[in-house]
Amino acid sequence: MTPLRFKDAMSQQYYATAPASTSAKAQRSDWWRDAVIYQVYPRSFADSNGDGMGDLEGIRTRLPYLRDLGVDAVWLSPFYASPQADGGYDVADYRAVDPMFGNLLDADALIRDARALALRIIVDLVPNHSSDQHEWFRRAVEEGPGSPLRDRYHFRPGKGESGELPPNDWESIFGGPAWTRVADGEWYLHLFAPEQPDFNWEHPAVGDEFRSILRFWLDMGVDGFRIDVAHGLVKAEGLPDLGSHEQLKLLGNDVMPFFDQDGVHEIYRQWRLILDEYSGERVFVAEAWTPTVERTANYVRPDELHQAFNFQYLSTAWDAEELRGVVNRTLEAMRPVGAPATWVLSNHDVTRHATRFANPPGLGTQIRTAGDRELGLRRARAATLLMLALPGSAYIYQGEELGLPDVVDLPDEVRQDPAYFRGAGQDGFRDGCRVPIPWTREGSSYGFGGGGSWLPQPAHWGELSIEAQTGDPSSTLELYRTALATRRTQPDLGAGDSVEWLRAPEGVLAFRRGEFVCVANTSGESVTTPAYGRLLLASGEVAEVDGDAKVPADTTVWWTTA
Ligand code: GLC
Repeated sequence: MTPLRFKDAMSQQYYATAPASTSAKAQRSDWWRDAVIYQVYPRSFADSNGDGMGDLEGIRTRLPYLRDLGVDAVWLSPFYASPQADGGYDVADYRAVDPMFGNLLDADALIRDARALALRIIVDLVPNHSSDQHEWFRRAVEEGPGSPLRDRYHFRPGKGESGELPPNDWESIFGGPAWTRVADGEWYLHLFAPEQPDFNWEHPAVGDEFRSILRFWLDMGVDGFRIDVAHGLVKAEGLPDLGSHEQLKLLGNDVMPFFDQDGVHEIYRQWRLILDEYSGERVFVAEAWTPTVERTANYVRPDELHQAFNFQYLSTAWDAEELRGVVNRTLEAMRPVGAPATWVLSNHDVTRHATRFANPPGLGTQIRTAGDRELGLRRARAATLLMLALPGSAYIYQGEELGLPDVVDLPDEVRQDPAYFRGAGQDGFRDGCRVPIPWTREGSSYGFGGGGSWLPQPAHWGELSIEAQTGDPSSTLELYRTALATRRTQPDLGAGDSVEWLRAPEGVLAFRRGEFVCVANTSGESVTTPAYGRLLLASGEVAEVDGDAKVPADTTVWWTTA
């Protein structure tokens, strides 16, 4: 494949030749079924004006890099007008771009340029809550009890003699009570930060407003939406106490009175009708943390959303048995509803997988220790090749193609994750995966922009940069490029809805999909397997002798029998 050539790294121009099949794939009406979707966290991708904060123009100028990486679509985390109490997931105006990221013209230019490069654009939609600076909420507070605008949120009198206690026992995901009291004595619900009041989806104005917001961005030309907290919009009637339930058991067996209520599905059925009015096969992907993959499948029934993130997969250890289990359960759950499985290892809310796998399993998805970095990277590379070999659609989080670790030693004074402050420093380590990515070996903010960076980058960032890794066949970036190029040329990769498991030593996953065979060794030791065909790609050094392959520990191998 054609390596990316740096004409002039500091001028932020990246040149290469597009993979030949790019356009053909982009034209397919079911492009999303096996799409590889790249998540851009706009604050941290590229800064065009040197203010230390990434922006839309920065993203636009780097689109050729994403095209050459070989992804099909780009999902942008929120760039809307926002006081940034939660990195933009607190939206004050859903139809405006925050000046820190640019303006609507920049959004338009980005969408147009992406289309010219055959890249789809998916934007984030945040319907569970607004910012406390949203006009509706500001007026609701100003107008006092009885204001009709209070009905668009969840305002309630408190419990206790003088209403001094919250209306129920729910806790915020970010720590502390899920209720905050306003000056006149009423309380309002916020499942996240106090600056993120939850909408009341029983109120018709809320639904009308979001249908209109959908049309606004569809008219702007976006190809789809990632729906934030898609499982949270509807609350159980009467907002009942949790009582003895364990709080926030997102992936356990319980259905919470504020999550995964059956009523959410009616909302998505209505949204689907709107989306289908628009040409060009546009899509919805749900961020739905549900107890089981079977419950996740409810979001992607044929008349609802197209995809839902597979957080069960993201939460699985680097362990063959567990991985086989979650792959089977996912494929079985998706088959009856006809939706593609999705696979994801990293995003802006969890510790990067290079760091997760560097640590012992069982620490959850927010980890504060660097662990064994070499081991973590080896496993991360192997895990990525496994993910990209599974049927369905895969999500890549910016910087994982560089093998970036989490930055675990950010000083407390630079942290911005609201959960860090509400959890009294016990939680909220999401800043570690949000550090601006390195583009160049040297230079201010390693090519992120012409100035500083809103979170400090570690000293070793330059060695991990796109510039440093480009053209080095052993680099993680070239592994991703080759893997994605291979995925485009091997029809069996990504397509279909099943895998045929092959017999394999303990701790090893082996499966066939048509003419394609994938082996992933999680056993911690080198193993010998048959050399299944022509070696396509491996995440480590594989030696083949007399029809056998020696697969080192924490390595994934792709073969074709064609
Ligand atoms: C989603 C986002 C996360 C945000 C939360 C509240 O989980 O991914 O970043 O903090 O919703 O909007």
